[in-house]
Amino acid sequence: MKSSVYDCVVLPLNKIHNRAGNITIVEGQKNIPFNVKRIYYLYDIPGGEARGGHAHKELYQLIVAAGGSFDVLLDDGINKKIVTLNRPDYGLLIVPGIWRELFEFSSGAVSLVMASHKYDENDYLREYNDFKNYKDEVE
Ligand code: TYD
Repeated sequence: MKSSVYDCVVLPLNKIHNRAGNITIVEGQKNIPFNVKRIYYLYDIPGGEARGGHAHKELYQLIVAAGGSFDVLLDDGINKKIVTLNRPDYGLLIVPGIWRELFEFSSGAVSLVMASHKYDENDYLREYNDFKNYKDEVE
């Protein structure tokens, strides 16, 4: 079945709060539906810049605004939606087969990404036309 933007949901994460602040814990297969093999984070993003602009064939990701805020455009080849992330205790689940662009980064924003697989350039669809063909003919 083809994945859709409606499979990409904002998951509320836990938050343990006390006088000294908050802590949020993410555990693979417990509060997110995949095991985390890789973590990376985007930061020092100049105003007006966009990131992403690709899709993945197999990769699941959870994206968290660990600091600041940004928008994520999701596109399944038919439907699009824009999700704003601005709280460290919510994460956007992105399933395979979804084109994504991250933009509107606030000053100091940190985009924390948890990923289901190690880095593999062969898993990327970096051209929108290739993505469309993949959705139409492969997935
Ligand atoms: P890219 O995925 O294109 O970044 P973004 O989607 O945030 O714009 O990756 C940027 C560069 O970093 C590219 O040269 C590939 C490299 N990279 C790795 O080597 N390992 C990784 O896990 C990731 C995510 C990127």
